[in-house]
Amino acid sequence: MLRDGLALLISEAELRSGVARLARQIDQDYATTGLVLVCLLKGATVFTADLLRALRAEVHRIEFVRASSYGSGTTSSGRVSITGALPAEHIAGQHVLAVDDIADTGHTCVAVAEYINSLAPASLRYCTLLDKPERRQADVRYDYVGFTIPNHFVVGYGMDFDERYRGLPAVYYFPDR
Ligand code: IMP
Ligand code: MG
Repeated sequence: MLRDGLALLISEAELRSGVARLARQIDQDYATTGLVLVCLLKGATVFTADLLRALRAEVHRIEFVRASSYGSGTTSSGRVSITGALPAEHIAGQHVLAVDDIADTGHTCVAVAEYINSLAPASLRYCTLLDKPERRQADVRYDYVGFTIPNHFVVGYGMDFDERYRGLPAVYYFPDR
């Protein structure tokens, strides 16, 4: 048990090997083309920083977009707002990989894919560190998944509850929620 009753779900060592495994898959798929990473703020920042350093494929550019579906609670509203426009000229004609922290209902993936596709990339794939498939509402497919997890609310490694816990180096959950 850590502070506030948090329990460990994925250790730092497990995260490291999960990120390395994802990087190997992505390296194979983008070996000849390279890619543009689009990091979803804010939760995917830590994951993206580690993934970026693990990749051997050429990352031509990294961009950021903000997608939010959560207020301060732990249940999705189903509405996703996207803020912080991507520079269209940096996406058009590029092989784009969206990098997210966690796949839950799937609404974020749908909204982000629709937005990025409107900017005419050469291709678009979606990578998520964590996946909670039990909660899926939208009909979506994630191209790269780090870890499939049970339906817990998780924090750490960039992910927050009400902006807290992002700096924890591993992934934790609240056993009582
Ligand atoms: P979706 O649109 O329901 O798939 O939600 C995805 C987004 O909700 C993620 O990018 C997170 O920002 C947030 N989210 C979903 N589950 C959790 C969680 O367990 N902890 C922290 N954020 C979460
Ligand atoms: Mg998010």
